[in-house]
Amino acid sequence: MKTLPLAALVLALLMPLLMPLPAIAAEKDPDTGLILADGWEVVRSNCTACHSAGLVTQNSGSRNYWLGLIRWMQATQNLWQFDAATEKTILDYLSTHYGVKEGARRQPLPRELMPVNPYKMDVDRS
Ligand code: HEC
Repeated sequence: MKTLPLAALVLALLMPLLMPLPAIAAEKDPDTGLILADGWEVVRSNCTACHSAGLVTQNSGSRNYWLGLIRWMQATQNLWQFDAATEKTILDYLSTHYGVKEGARRQPLPRELMPVNPYKMDVDRS
């Protein structure tokens, strides 16, 4: 029996540690980072021609936010028009998987930590 080269042996021993942890997050396409779910290929083919998919995946918002962005790109960035079914698929995908984040906004400050409201100040004019 040949002796395994040390590097191979070390690697074999370390393999279990290098394996990714069981996926807690949604599975993603290794090339684009898009979450693998209904409609992702439509998004890939329509949304990664001009910029990286990273621009898509790092954003999130309501269906209306995404629609507004699409209309803006169509009006100013030469994004092509989609037929209704394609647009629905894209919006369903984006608003489901890149929707409004829970708790993305901080809680309002408690009243006692708020600055004085300049419109409500009792100005002593005596
Ligand atoms: C025809 C080219 C083109 C296509 C196709 C395209 N975009 Fe864009 N998009 C742009 C340009 C240009 C920008 C501005 C890039 C910049 O600011 O650097 C942009 C910016 C964005 C941004 C960032 C907006 C911001 O507030 O910074 C997002 C998110 C985005 N696109 C999503 C999409 C999605 C989703 C699709 C598919 C429906 C798509 N894009 C398809 C051209 C395109």
